[in-house]
Amino acid sequence: MKIIVQPNYEALSKRAAEIVREEMEKKRNIVLGLATGSTPLGLYKELIRMHKEEGLDFSQVTTFNLDEYIGIDYDDPNSYHYFMESNLFNHINIDRENTFIPDTNVEDLEAYCKEYDRLIEEKGGIDLQILGIGVNGHIGFNEPDEELKVGTNIVNLTESTIQANSRFFDSIDQVPQNAVTMGIGTIMKAKQIILLASGKSKHEVMKELIKGDKITTQLPASLLLLHPNVTVILDEEAYRG
Ligand code: F6R
Repeated sequence: MKIIVQPNYEALSKRAAEIVREEMEKKRNIVLGLATGSTPLGLYKELIRMHKEEGLDFSQVTTFNLDEYIGIDYDDPNSYHYFMESNLFNHINIDRENTFIPDTNVEDLEAYCKEYDRLIEEKGGIDLQILGIGVNGHIGFNEPDEELKVGTNIVNLTESTIQANSRFFDSIDQVPQNAVTMGIGTIMKAKQIILLASGKSKHEVMKELIKGDKITTQLPASLLLLHPNVTVILDEEAYRG
């Protein structure tokens, strides 16, 4: 696991965008795994800038998002469909046919989860996966537990995650309690992973992860210690607390 500490959130976002750009230049039809939440917002802003000012080309790019809530309309600003449209896709030249976000409005969700993993395989697998991390160590919505699911699956969000996500909703009762998420195995199959962490609230979990001496399903991100190509980019606040 390669650790890069940046002075602040802006520098972290720029460094992440540089890596994404390098990989996009190496492989024009790259398959990107994308995250939502506050952490990748600066990265997406920088990618949009690179597209607008420097002609970074997304026309051949395919994307797969990590997760989506269950029981949310896609035109709800809190849905991850809406998030991706407004924070990235609307501002770059990506072909919407090549963007995939778990569709939680289907009848048979379990079958759909399997289909999502199959589709990722069909597109050649994820070349570069962007991850944020929950204060409880979740990646995607793979929450700390006695066991973790391998493939894309349906999850019950933990109290801590519902609490953390409530900042985006009018009240905590409106936060969906369930989601579909790529599984740990889906994430681990990505050829390269960048995990981003910013701010004091992520310090404790990042301290534990960076220590790097044990893997446990109680800290889902620790499974990344087994992956051969992970870069962690964090800012001073997340690093030093
Ligand atoms: C989002 C996701 C989550 C977030 C994590 C951190 O697609 O999968 O794991 O990355 O909850 O969220 P923020 O960035 O809002 O602190």
